[in-house]
Formats: sequence, C-alpha cells, structure tokens
Amino acid sequence: MKFFVDTADIKEIRELNELGLLDGVTTNPSLILKSGGKIAEVTKQICDIVDGPVSAEVVATEYSAMMKEAETLSKIAENVCIKVPLTLDGLKACRSIRNDMNRMVNVTLCFSANQALLAAKAGASFISPFVGRVDDTGVDGMELISEIRTIYDNYDFATEILVASVRTVNHVKQSALIGADVATVPPATLKALVKHPLTDNGLKAFLADWEKTGQKIG
Ligand code: G3P
Repeated sequence: MKFFVDTADIKEIRELNELGLLDGVTTNPSLILKSGGKIAEVTKQICDIVDGPVSAEVVATEYSAMMKEAETLSKIAENVCIKVPLTLDGLKACRSIRNDMNRMVNVTLCFSANQALLAAKAGASFISPFVGRVDDTGVDGMELISEIRTIYDNYDFATEILVASVRTVNHVKQSALIGADVATVPPATLKALVKHPLTDNGLKAFLADWEKTGQKIG
C-alpha cells in the first residue's frame, strides 16, 4: 500500500520525504488555507520535493471552468494530479482531463460505492473515499472501502482506491488489510504508525545493558 501525506505543510512534507515514507501528497482547499500560502506556489514547492502524484484541487463547480483550472494547475509540474469533486460536472471533467490532457485525476468527496463506480467508469486514476467523515455519521467508513474493493475487483477497474479522511492508525491498518491501494494520512498519524510501547521499553533495556558492557562499536 502506498502512503501519501494529507497536508500542504512544506516542513512536514520535507521531513517525511527524507524519511523515505512518501509516495505522494494530497492537498485540498482547506489544507491550502491552513498552509497560509498561494495554491500555485505551495503546489510547486511540494512538487519540487516529492516525485509521486501531488493532488491539487479545482474549486470551480461547472465543467468548462473546471477544465480551465485543470489547465492552470497542470502547468505547475508534471506530477500534479488534478483533483475534482464527485459531481456530474466533476466526472465529465475527469474523463476529459484523462483523455485530452493525459493527466492523473483524483476524484474526491466519495461517500458511496455507487459514486466510486461512476468515478472508475469516468477513468479516474484515484478515487478518494472519506472514511473519517463516514465514521462521523455513525456508519463504519471502512465498510465503504471493502465495498469499493469488491466492485473494482469484480470489473478489473484500474482506478486506485485512495483512502482519505484518515484519522487513526487503525484506519491505516484496516486499509492495508482490505487491500486499498493508497492511504493519504495526516503527518502526525503517519509518524504514529511507528510507535509501540514495547519497542520503546525494549530499546531502553538494551541500551542500559550495553552501557554496562563498557564497549563501543567502531
Ligand atoms: O483527505 C481528506 C481530508 O483532508 C479530510 O479529512 O479529517 O477533514 O475529514 P477530515
């Protein structure tokens, strides 16, 4: 399973990339707002750091305006993946961006298996189901991922399932168990994946014993 980081924070992206943890980045209008920067500049900075897909979202809601924004965003860098919302206009734009611009497209704000089916038929590179927001409604968000996995496997769709709105390390584990292709994870949750109290305790004990040997390596 690939790891994308769900942030537009340059410092975090640089640090995670240097750790070798990143296969890509996802941003959205809320994350651009949080970054305090301009979308073109922030996206360019991210693309200079990360080689994998960097999702940048259109904010127009009508097809022609979406296509114009997609043109502008695609000029920022080769690895910009155009993010469009899961609406009829968004699906139409998805098909055109894939066929006419030959660009990756991430169809976002997916909350049902039928929406994911439509996105795959529109040729989406990625579908982004929002598991945390589904959980917020009292329904299990991971169920949605299982349903999409089954449907995509039934018909051999190439669209990658990009689990979004990830809030916990358990969301990441469940995504991997189900066979999602990608999880886009906030920086703190991504770093939390490495943590285990027994690792910390074990390391402490090994270092204490090593100290007692009086030895040095090298
Ligand atoms: O990946 C989409 C994400 O940025 C939304 O997360 O926690 O606001 O539902 P959240």
